[in-house]
Amino acid sequence: MRKVRKAVFPVAGLGTRFLPATKAIPKEMLTVVDRPVIQYVVDEAREAGIEHFIFVTGRNKAVIEDHFDIQFELYNTLAERGKDEQLERLRALQPVPGQTSFTRQQEPLGLGHAVWCARELVGDEPFALLLPDMIMHSQESCLKGMVDLYDKSGGNVVAVQECDPAEAHKYGIVAKGAEVGEGFEITAMVEKPAKGTAPSNLYINGRYILQPEIFAILENQERGAGGEIQLTDAMIRLGDSQKMFGFHYRGDTYDCGSPEGFVEANLAFALRRPELREVVENVMARLSGASRG
Ligand code: G1P
Repeated sequence: MRKVRKAVFPVAGLGTRFLPATKAIPKEMLTVVDRPVIQYVVDEAREAGIEHFIFVTGRNKAVIEDHFDIQFELYNTLAERGKDEQLERLRALQPVPGQTSFTRQQEPLGLGHAVWCARELVGDEPFALLLPDMIMHSQESCLKGMVDLYDKSGGNVVAVQECDPAEAHKYGIVAKGAEVGEGFEITAMVEKPAKGTAPSNLYINGRYILQPEIFAILENQERGAGGEIQLTDAMIRLGDSQKMFGFHYRGDTYDCGSPEGFVEANLAFALRRPELREVVENVMARLSGASRG
């Protein structure tokens, strides 16, 4: 079984739902408490044992590359001022040289196309794919649970969670077959099913482990839902020749691609910080009282 060493992060999206904040700043660099959204997702990958981080970027995304670089002047200044704690925090998050790669999706043709843009950097090995809109919190990270399943099952692994059936048309949806270890066989998949037609309420939450054969399929994938080249459509075809397993993730997920999810993520992550918890609780109590009054 080939180990999952590489992870792909598609970060080319325009972030139109966050304008004007995203006019000059990538949506992946918006902060949840004191970390950019992309940092949470990269940390999840690192925790799952990923060794190489591949970013599929676009125009106006160069600051993501800067974020994962060393800032010598800043580091020196922190050292001179004895700010060892801050320095250590930055160093702990710093990828080692050669551990990151960047390529560009030149046109917004959809998630399937973005993944295909990473084919040369991934090469002929299985890889993880993490959609940075989704940030997660649980005892053991979502991708770590998926890697553990994959190490036993092989094939392809897609993480799913339950959604309100009325929301199923917004996502990729899978149908559940026989249980296999910590996961289950996927018997059907559909991207953004028309309202009332979804085969279940298990939605694809943005974490995948895929075999490299997906690239040859994406190469000639026709446009699907929304006129975009859809990854889910290519996975359906990959499922004809390879195993597709679902991993039912039970932790918390925040969709930072929507203002509602982004605000919720900020509150939830602030409440988890011991030094912020009380202040956030007090502010929320005061403000919710004021808004009722
Ligand atoms: C993408 C995937 C979809 C998945 C979703 C999770 O859709 O195509 O299958 O459920 O991410 O966020 P998008 O959000 O890009 O429309």
